[in-house]
Amino acid sequence: MAANIDAARAQVIEQAKVDIFSQVQAEDNAKQAHAIGRAFISDTITAPTKEMYEYAVRASLGDDVYDEPCTKILEAHMAKLTGKEAAMFVPSGTMSNQLALRTHLKQPPYSVLCDHRAHIARYEAGGTAFHSGAQLDYATPANGHHLTLDDIKEHVVLGSDVHSCPTAIIELENTLNGTIIPQADVIAISDFAHAHDIKMHLDGARIWHVAAETATPIKELCDPFDSVSLCFSKGLGAPIGSCLVGTKEFITRARWFRKLFGGGMRQTGFMAASAAYALTHHFPLLPAVHARTRRLENGLKELGVRITSGAETCMVFYDPSPIGVSYAELITRAKTLPDPIHIAGSRLVVHIQTTDAVVDDFLALVKQLAQEKRDAGFDPSAQCAQAKTVGKSSIYVKVSQADLDKVQREAPART
Ligand SMILES: Cc1ncc(COP(=O)(O)O)c(C=O)c1O
Repeated sequence: MAANIDAARAQVIEQAKVDIFSQVQAEDNAKQAHAIGRAFISDTITAPTKEMYEYAVRASLGDDVYDEPCTKILEAHMAKLTGKEAAMFVPSGTMSNQLALRTHLKQPPYSVLCDHRAHIARYEAGGTAFHSGAQLDYATPANGHHLTLDDIKEHVVLGSDVHSCPTAIIELENTLNGTIIPQADVIAISDFAHAHDIKMHLDGARIWHVAAETATPIKELCDPFDSVSLCFSKGLGAPIGSCLVGTKEFITRARWFRKLFGGGMRQTGFMAASAAYALTHHFPLLPAVHARTRRLENGLKELGVRITSGAETCMVFYDPSPIGVSYAELITRAKTLPDPIHIAGSRLVVHIQTTDAVVDDFLALVKQLAQEKRDAGFDPSAQCAQAKTVGKSSIYVKVSQADLDKVQREAPART
C-alpha cells in the first residue's frame, strides 16, 4: 500500500514538472531585446536588463500583505518624493487608478470628470463603472492640447439638482499622449476643484517625463492632487509595478481595496528592487529619449508627413496621408524590412531601449515610400487625412488586422 502511494505521488509530482525555457533561450532573449529596440508601439515593452535583475535578486524576502521590507522602503521613498503621507505598491497602473477612484468615491450618485482621451476613459475596460459604479464625464480640450479650467467649468456638475450626477473627482493625466499639461492650468483646476469639495486624482503613469523635460520636482507636480498613480513599468523600464500615493487615511483604505481587488501580492521585494533600480538608473535616461523623439518628429516633418501631436516627451502622433501613404501600408512595409520595425498606428513611442539606428531606418523607409508614391503619380492635392480627432485633439489610431490583410492582398509583388 505504502509503495503504491509513493509511486502514485511520484507520478503526480512528475506531472507538475515543466521547463519553460527554450533550447536556445539566450539566443531568443537576444532576438527579443533587438526587436524591442526596433518597436515604436509602446514603452511598456521595455525589458529588464541583466543589471536590473542582478540588483533585484538581492531583495528582501517578506510577504507584502504583512510587511515586505524592500517594498516598505520603496513606498516610504515614493511618499517622500511625491510629498504625500503614504504610498502603496500595486501590480499595474490600471489597478492603481481604479483603486484611487474606488477609495475616493464614497456615496453615490457621483461622477468622474476627465479628458476624453484619458486612459481611464478609453483603456481600462470600463473599470470605473464596474468597480465604483461611477459615471465618467468627458471633457474635450478646446485648445486641442490639454484641459483648462474653462473646459472643466463647462463640464463639471455641481449643485443638488436630483437629476444630475455630481462631479466627485476630476482626473487629469500627465503626460497625456506624451504631451505636458502646463502646471499653471493644473493648479487653476485644482484650486477650483478643492473650492467645490471635489477630489483631484492624477494618472501620473509618465509624470517622470514631465519632471525630466521641465526640470520640475516630482513633489511640485503632485502637490495639486489628493492622489497620484505613478508607474515604474512604462518609461522607467521596470518589469512590473506602480505606486499610489495620498494621505495615510486614503492609503490605509486603498490597501483594503487592493486586497479586495485581488492585488495583495506576496514576495514583492524583487519587484520593488527593480523599480528602485529603474528610478536610480533609468530615470536619468529620459532627456535623451525625448531628444530622440524630437529627431524622429523633425525627420518626419522634413519628409512631408503631418504631425498631429508633437514630440513634447516620448511620443509623436503623425499622419502620412500628405505623402500618399496609409498607416496600414507603412506598418506592412516596416514589418517586412530585412530588419523589421514594429509600429501599430498613428502613435510612435520612443523608449530607453529604442536605438538611434531604428529612427534612421524608419525615416529611410518613409522616404522610400514617399518616392514610390510620387513615381506612381501620387497627387498631394488628393490626400485625405487618416488621423482621427475629436475637436482638435488627436486620438491614437490603431490599425486593424483586416486593414493590414487588405494591404497585403493588394500589394504589388516586390522583388
Ligand atoms: C497613461 C496610462 N495610465 C495607466 C496605464 C495603465 O498601466 P498598466 O498597463 O500597468 O495597467 C497606462 C498603460 O500604458 C497608461 O499609458
